[in-house]
Amino acid sequence: MIKAFQFAQTPKIILGNGKIAELPGITKSFGGEVLLVTGANSFYFSKHGEYLLNTFEMTGVRCHHIIIAREPSPEMIDHAAIRYRDTNIQLVIAIGGGSAIDAGKAISAMLNKTELVTEFLEGVGSKDHPGTKVPFIAVPTTSGTGSEATKNAVISRIGRNGFKRSLRHDNFVPDYAIVDPELTYNCPPNITAACGMDCFTQLVEAYLSDKSSVLSDALALDGIRTLTNSLPRAWKWGQDIEARTGMSYAALQSGICLANAGLGVVHGFASSVGALYNVPHGNICATLMATANTITVRKLREETPKHIALIKYAELGKITSSQAGNCDEYYVDAFLDKLHEWTDTMNIARLSSFGVTTDDIDKIVSATDCKNNPIKLNNSELKEILLQRI
Ligand SMILES: [Fe+2]
Repeated sequence: MIKAFQFAQTPKIILGNGKIAELPGITKSFGGEVLLVTGANSFYFSKHGEYLLNTFEMTGVRCHHIIIAREPSPEMIDHAAIRYRDTNIQLVIAIGGGSAIDAGKAISAMLNKTELVTEFLEGVGSKDHPGTKVPFIAVPTTSGTGSEATKNAVISRIGRNGFKRSLRHDNFVPDYAIVDPELTYNCPPNITAACGMDCFTQLVEAYLSDKSSVLSDALALDGIRTLTNSLPRAWKWGQDIEARTGMSYAALQSGICLANAGLGVVHGFASSVGALYNVPHGNICATLMATANTITVRKLREETPKHIALIKYAELGKITSSQAGNCDEYYVDAFLDKLHEWTDTMNIARLSSFGVTTDDIDKIVSATDCKNNPIKLNNSELKEILLQRI
């Protein structure tokens, strides 16, 4: 029987090659004063950017622009909100990777507030955000975080007393997600791999989560099927339209899944490692995914061999394996082998290449939340995961 569940709202989704062309018309329907948030490698200077700006000008849209060059800090959000608070911005549009989209989402939530964003951050501030915001459109140019479909924006302060925390409210789900795979064609292989593995982690962790539902499972499995056929090709041949479209769709699904089912220990590390070191979110997930799942499966087999998660791991192996007719044990191992194979073939960088050292292992482990991992890992298992990828 189907277990009772709730499913959160999604943005109005427009997905397809060339769909960026619909943005000017949608923008105009919100008003004539727009704040555009883009990343550093920017869409803004691309042919699509040129087209968009020209169209805005022709249709009487006044476009203010800010660049978000890295994962957004509280100061970046406060600075933008203060600068544009009196400008009567009627729409915020973020076009970029997860950092630009999270920044745009947070700025849209802070334009009408006088407080600092830290006052509303989970685990940092003490105030509840009322959910008021300026309308917000997310347009991803990478296939990874799924932020175009989620209700939270991750804000980071990196360093000894750093944090990665969310500004979250149901109303912060973007009003529109315009997902145009053409915008991802020029994403370089290393970023395609890191973002793609982040997306893969989100789909797998949501599927294995004890908060998953029949609907989030259906989406997650479909996303994993699509990603399995798309990620190696998108990494190798960036102009492969079918593969890029598959990755755009899988990333969107991963955002919907994580918003409804939660995440696991890899994303626990993404917060603890990412708060201490300047390592992009996708790189942390990509490098830890294979080892974290291997150790999770080992513990499940040792302590709870009948756990539903092992049956689910076997389902994942059936999707990623080319062999038919084997037992569940075989497919669980086949899935783990695939994770290690992709880590190697896509040259996923180790944490040490971003400056992470063994000196901070205890500090990282003590700050790592297992979230909705199918089984809770102890400190020595968390250390083992890190040591294999530093
Ligand atoms: Fe992620």
